[in-house]
Amino acid sequence: MSIEEVGQGAPGEPILRVDGVVKRFGSRTIINGISFDVEPGQVVVIVGPSGTGKSTFLRCVNGLEDIQGGSIVFDGEPVNAHSRKVVALRQRIGMIFQNFNLYPHLTAAENVTLAPIKVLRERPAAARERAMELFRKVRLEHRASAYPSEMSGGEQQRVAIARALAMNPSLMMFDEPTSALDPETVGDVLTVMEELADDRRTMLVVTHEMAFADHVGDRMLFMDGGLIIEDGPPDELLRNPQQERTRQFVTSVLNPDSARARRQAQADTANGASSEVDSR
Ligand SMILES: Nc1ncnc2c1ncn2[C@@H]1O[C@H](COP(=O)(O)OP(=O)(O)O)[C@@H](O)[C@H]1O
Ligand SMILES: [Mg+2]
Repeated sequence: MSIEEVGQGAPGEPILRVDGVVKRFGSRTIINGISFDVEPGQVVVIVGPSGTGKSTFLRCVNGLEDIQGGSIVFDGEPVNAHSRKVVALRQRIGMIFQNFNLYPHLTAAENVTLAPIKVLRERPAAARERAMELFRKVRLEHRASAYPSEMSGGEQQRVAIARALAMNPSLMMFDEPTSALDPETVGDVLTVMEELADDRRTMLVVTHEMAFADHVGDRMLFMDGGLIIEDGPPDELLRNPQQERTRQFVTSVLNPDSARARRQAQADTANGASSEVDSR
C-alpha cells in the first residue's frame, strides 16, 4: 500500500463527529459540551489557553478518557473508552505528543516498525522497507539506525510522525508537537506537517504556532473554559475575531510581550501600584 492510500471513511461522512461532549474529573467539569465535525482531508487546528482541556479532549477522542456526556463518532463508530473495540480504534488514530514518547531502547527504524510487525503482522522486511519510505518522507533517511538519545528533539518528533504514519491512520492528532523543541528544529517538524496536509491527511492539531495554523489549517477552534468560543477559518479568527476572549488570546500569543505588559498594567491599576516593573 502506498503511504498516500489511507482509509478516509465513507464518502460524504465526517471522519470525526463530536457532539455535545462533556468531560469531568470528579466534580470538576473540564469540557462542557463541545461539538464539531472533521471532514476527511481537513486540517482542524485547536488553540486556547493552557489548562482549557485541549489535551484531555484529544485523549477522549482516542478513548484514553471516558466522557460523561455527548458522543464522539470516529469513522462511523461511537468511541467508548470502556469497549474492547477501543484498541482497534486507537490503531487508526495516529497520536503525536509534545514529548515524542519514542521507545528509548529502540532505534528510529525499530520504533517505526514495531507496531506494524506486532500489531498489523507485517513481514519484517516489508515493514522495514516501508519505514525507509517514511523516513524519506520526514527527511530522516540518514538517521534510521540512531537511538532517540542521539537525536535532536526535532528529529525525534519526525520519527514519532513516521511511527504514526506506519499504521496508516485515518486521523492524525498532534498535541503541541513543537512546544518542547529547540527553536531551530521547530521549522523541520512544521514543514513535515505541512506536507502531510498537502497529501490531504486528516489532522487535528493543538498548537500555539499561529503562523502555521493560519497557513495550514482549514479551520480553527478557539477553546476556553471547556467550550469552543469561536470556530471558523484561521484567517477570520486571527484577523477579525468576533469574541473578546478570542481577541485577547490571539493578541497574547502573537505578541506575548505586549500582553504581559498589559496584564501587568491592569494588575498595577488594580493594586493601586505605580512603578513596579515586571522583571520576567
Ligand atoms: N487525569 C486527570 N485528573 C484530574 N484532572 C485532570 C486530569 N488530566 C487533566 N486534568 C485537569 O484538566 C484540566 C485541563 O487539562 P489539559 O487537558 O491538560 O489542558 P490543556 O491541554 O488545554 O492545557 C487541567 O485543569 C488539568 O489539571
Ligand atoms: Mg495540553
